[in-house]
Amino acid sequence: MHELLIATRNPGKLREFAAIFAGLDLRLHTLDDLGIQDEIEESGTTFAANATLKAEGYMALSGLPTLADDSGLEVAALGGAPGVYSARYGGVTGAAQLQYLLDQMKEIPWHARLARFVCVIALARPGHAPQLVEGRLPGVIEFEPKGSGGFGYDPLFYLLDEHATLAEITAERKNSISHRAIAARAARAILAHG
Ligand code: IMP
Repeated sequence: MHELLIATRNPGKLREFAAIFAGLDLRLHTLDDLGIQDEIEESGTTFAANATLKAEGYMALSGLPTLADDSGLEVAALGGAPGVYSARYGGVTGAAQLQYLLDQMKEIPWHARLARFVCVIALARPGHAPQLVEGRLPGVIEFEPKGSGGFGYDPLFYLLDEHATLAEITAERKNSISHRAIAARAARAILAHG
């Protein structure tokens, strides 16, 4: 049985990773399980840099192989913003942040509202160079929030294949198609090969 630290404090993310890694010979740990209180600052300017900083930083603190992710929303018409600054975009959170994004995109017509969610996962293992995998989910930014599921930008993220926003589909469906699920399946393939 191998050990793996999942470097998150978000129980939802932990459940998603645990479901995708089910059946692997792995014992998962969390930061809280190990009593790690330090916060590694996400000071990078790319998802890959931030995921790598966290995976290597928490591996150094725990002594265990460590998986860390970084994710966010990239809107084509905004030059890829908010990107790595998604959590802090506009200096606000929650409904005010959705309104801030809508205000930035007031003049932008439906056909030019292309966006994607991106998730980069870094795997740090003692004696290995960090390995990176990425998942992307394309969509279109809505003109108003729709649905009450999910979190963050989900109510504004319309999926052409689903005819619905990410906040209107079930959590189970989201967890099977999301940028994080795609990246986690790629990480699973690496972990399965030892
Ligand atoms: P982190 O990778 O957990 O730090 O996520 C960064 C930010 O990206 C979050 O605070 C959200 O604003 C946004 N984000 C990442 N994934 C999602 C998602 O699945 N739905 C909605 N927002 C997301």
